[in-house]
Amino acid sequence: MTRIRFLGPDGGPTGETDAPSGTRLLDIAQAIGQPLEGTCEGQMACSTCHVIVAAGDFDRLPRASEQEDDLLDLAPHVTRTSRLACQILLDGSLDMLTVRLPGSARDMQGR
Ligand code: FES
Repeated sequence: MTRIRFLGPDGGPTGETDAPSGTRLLDIAQAIGQPLEGTCEGQMACSTCHVIVAAGDFDRLPRASEQEDDLLDLAPHVTRTSRLACQILLDGSLDMLTVRLPGSARDMQGR
C-alpha cells in the first residue's frame, strides 16, 4: 500500500488516498476525482496524464522508458521530475508518493 498525496498547480493539497499494490497512479488519481484526463487510457499517445513527482520521490521510482521521455518532451509545463501517471505502477515499495498536477491538466477541464 502506498499513500498518495496530490497537490494542485499552486502546490496546495487536492487529495490523498491509499493505493493498493498493483494499481496505476492514473487510475488512483481518477478514482478520487483528480483532474487528469488520461485520454489514451495508458497507450502513451496523449500525455494528458502528466504529473510532476516530488523531487524526493522521483529517484525512488523506476526510470521512465525512452518512449515515455519522448512523449513528456511534448507536454506543457514539463519539469525534470515529470512523469506520465499511466506509466507509474504502484508496487508497494514506496510508503508515500507526492505528485503535483501541472497547470495544463486543470485548464483542459476548463477550471
Ligand atoms: Fe495517455 Fe498516459 S493516459 S499517455
